[in-house]
Formats: sequence, C-alpha cells, structure tokens
Amino acid sequence: MSRIAYVNGQYVRHADAAVHVEDRGYQFADGVYEVCEVWQGKIVDVPRHLDRLGRSLNELRIDWPMARNAVKFVLHQVVRRNLVRNGLVYIQVTRGVSKRDHFFPPAHVAPSIVVTARSSSPTAAKAQAEQGISVFSYPENRWPRVDIKTVALLPNVLAKQNAKEQGGKEAWYVDADGNVTEGGSTNAWIVTKEGVLVTRPAESGILRGITRAVVLDLVQKEGLTFEERPFSLEEAFDAKEAFVTAATTVVMPVTRLDGRIIGNGHPGSVATRLRELFHTATDLQAV
Ligand code: PDD
Repeated sequence: MSRIAYVNGQYVRHADAAVHVEDRGYQFADGVYEVCEVWQGKIVDVPRHLDRLGRSLNELRIDWPMARNAVKFVLHQVVRRNLVRNGLVYIQVTRGVSKRDHFFPPAHVAPSIVVTARSSSPTAAKAQAEQGISVFSYPENRWPRVDIKTVALLPNVLAKQNAKEQGGKEAWYVDADGNVTEGGSTNAWIVTKEGVLVTRPAESGILRGITRAVVLDLVQKEGLTFEERPFSLEEAFDAKEAFVTAATTVVMPVTRLDGRIIGNGHPGSVATRLRELFHTATDLQAV
C-alpha cells in the first residue's frame, strides 16, 4: 500500500504530493501547522488542535482553507487511508500561491492545505521514555510571536541540530533572564526537590502546547502541587526531575541537561506516571 497525502482538495500518492513553487509557505514561510498524535486508532485532541489552528490563522489573517468540519473530515480520511494506528497526522495551511511579493496576495487567492500522516512505533517510544532524553540549552533567538504555530521554524531547526550534534534529542531555549522558555518542538517542565511541578506560563515566550494543557488538567486531577512560573537553567540543573511535552513525545523524561545528570539520571516517577495516565485525560476520536 502506498502512502496517501491530501493536497488542496485531492488525495494523491505521497510520493507525488507537491505544492507550487510560488506557494507562500515555500517562499515566505507564510503558513501555520498542527501535529496531532494518533494513538491506538484514535486522533488525540482534535477540537483543541483545530481551535489553535483557527487562532494561528486568525492572528496571521489567513482564511480557513475550508470549513472546520471539512478539515476534521480530511484529518480522519488521511489517517484512515494510510492505515495509521499509532503515529501522527500533520496539517499545514499557507496563504496560497501567488507571484512572489511580500504584500498579501489578492483576495481571490485561496489558502493552500496539505495533510499527511505517518506511523510510528509505540515500542520505540516506550524504550525512549524508559531511558529518558538528553537536552542542550540554546540562547532564545526567536521572534516574540512564538504563540503562533507558524511553519517558520529555522531557529528551531538550528537549536535542535545543535543538540543533536552533541548527542541530544531536544534543545531548551534560555531567555535573556536565564529562564528556560521551551523546547525546540516541546514544552519544558521540571519537578523541584520539594516535589513541585513547574512550567512556564503560556502568556509569553512559549507555544501554548495542547499536551501541556492536558498534563496541567491531569496534574490538578491527581492533586499534585504545581506552579506556572518561569524557571531558570540553574533551577533545572538542581531539579529532581525534568520532562518535555508535545504531541510527538507525549510526556518524555529528560535525564541529562547540558551533559549534567538530572535527579538520579533515570526517568522520574512523576513524569512516568503522567505519561502512563496521559491518554485518560485526552479527547480521543476513533478514525
Ligand atoms: N511541536 N513548543 C513548540 C515550539 C512546539 O513546536 C511544540 C509542538 C510544542 C508542544 O505543543 P503540542 O503539545 O501542542 O504538540 C511546544 C510539534 C509537535 C512539531 O513541531 O512537530
């Protein structure tokens, strides 16, 4: 079976899926995206992802490419047609195709939409979570509107590549005050020696992660102590545990930061428990 992608109204072979060379996503990174987890044949938190997609589009004054319900239908179709049981579904919307010009294109130019899906191995993810990941800090150098989920990810690419070249799996951005903002493609958390969960408030400096929001619900349901406040790199070095959250990682323990061991060097009990409970707190839609 060959992979299938959805491109501007058509389901096409993934190998042939393409957008025009003058798509504004390609030329200006003038577009937004979402990544949803597919877990045991269900898409995770579709309403929240579509809410955030709508917000990103609105902030950039890009129209919905089609009705919200139609987008939802396509997400389900692409997951189903690719027989994905565990993996990801990706949606990207750009300001459309028009001759290269920084100004917005004429009103008749329709936004472009692409949806792809791919399988991933739950066994490999479990093995990674049992081991934990290594993270490397990186100076915050992104624009202030990181609350918009744009496809302009070059700073994230460079920060993550820097981590990879040192044997890490994620970068943690550190702002001018010495506080961790978030990961290159994840939100950042620590558990202090006193057992308090800490994550930066979503008001500024981070993407309002859907996984982060679900974990916050879970933390409250479980009666864990938490604080939404900035934390410094120094505090993270000293933490009992650290972890990251994203649709791609769910809850992933961090066991090393800048080469230093966090806690006892093994995934912490809080992160491990939150990972186990995660899907009990999500909205799950069968495909
Ligand atoms: N990244 N922060 C950044 C910068 C991100 O790119 C992401 C997600 C998150 C976590 O958001 P969520 O919990 O809604 O996935 C935080 C996606 C998965 C990616 O770029 O692949």
